[in-house]
Amino acid sequence: ENSVAFQLMDIHEQAVTLYHHILVNTELGQPALEYLKHRGLTDETIEKYHLGFAPGQRLLKPFFDEKKTDFQLLRKSGLFSENDNGDLYDRFVDRVMFPIRNDNGKTVAFSGRLLSKQPDLPKYLNSPETEIFNKRKVLFNLDSARLSIRKNEPAILLEGFMDVISADQAGIHSGIASMGTSLTDEQVYDISRITNEVVVSYDGDTPGQKAIKRAIDSFANNSKIAVKIVTVPDNLDPDEFIRQRGTDQFMELVKHAASPIDFELNYLKKQYNLESEVDSGNYISEALTVIAKEASPITRDLYLNKVASEFNVSKELLSSRLETLTATNQ
Ligand code: CTP
Ligand code: MN
Ligand code: MN
Ligand code: MN
Ligand code: MN
Repeated sequence: ENSVAFQLMDIHEQAVTLYHHILVNTELGQPALEYLKHRGLTDETIEKYHLGFAPGQRLLKPFFDEKKTDFQLLRKSGLFSENDNGDLYDRFVDRVMFPIRNDNGKTVAFSGRLLSKQPDLPKYLNSPETEIFNKRKVLFNLDSARLSIRKNEPAILLEGFMDVISADQAGIHSGIASMGTSLTDEQVYDISRITNEVVVSYDGDTPGQKAIKRAIDSFANNSKIAVKIVTVPDNLDPDEFIRQRGTDQFMELVKHAASPIDFELNYLKKQYNLESEVDSGNYISEALTVIAKEASPITRDLYLNKVASEFNVSKELLSSRLETLTATNQ
């Protein structure tokens, strides 16, 4: 068992080296290298993350065949797809390769990005589930970020590879990525083992903002982690924001990160036209359900005051509504 896992990691290590070599030393890798440079990555960053390129022709299969690597092992690696005759083909073709490491710093999977949009293909293609890779259980960059997190930098939870890499290059080394917007319970658990504080900074677009709400609930239900929220403006993602506005401005956002309750109230507010009394009424009802989730009675009272004065409604009315809500919550 163990030795299969070990051998699969060894295959990944070799693939990392090969993909990286293609990217930085060969003609085949030129377009991909230019793509990454165009996205602002330095040689040093490309080295650090061992980024690579899977060219538009077979690479791994002939390489491992020449080394007489065991066929069944190759099948289990997730680096190949299999045709009806049982032949193996390189799974990753024409993609910039991002090695995904486990907590021990071993590469256990890849994600490959297309250089340009292609209608029928996913932007990122990931390794399938294997004996060494369960996507639900891995956070991109956790092995490296935890060194910084231990030095009291806030853990910053991001969506994607480029968000983490861009942040790191800009001097923010404590970024980790859920690799998409669905944060799993396993990932929450892993974060809770190394820190009790996390700043969630998902993309500024609608899917990102919706996912923040789900992340807040996951952290609340599965951990005692204190969560703060960064809303990246103008629909940008952290990578784009850092490149356009710089690290200092991003760190300002982190410094002023909102509490979950403030985030949720703000997010809610944007869904309503507060010029309208009917909409305001609906907003207030929804806001009360958000406030009801808050555990501290003092904090609940502060927010009730806020809503009451903001909309000039009676606090007694809000209190009695809130009491029925908190009563059903228990
Ligand atoms: N993702 C994925 N498969 C996809 C799309 C996205 O696994 N088909 C994951 C990747 O980890 C990606 C993250 O979800 O980094 C966030 O997705 P998105 O915001 O769409 O991509 P970006 O990270 O912004 O990618 P890029 O900047 O390269 O366009
Ligand atoms: Mn190297
Ligand atoms: Mn996104
Ligand atoms: Mn992006
Ligand atoms: Mn993004």
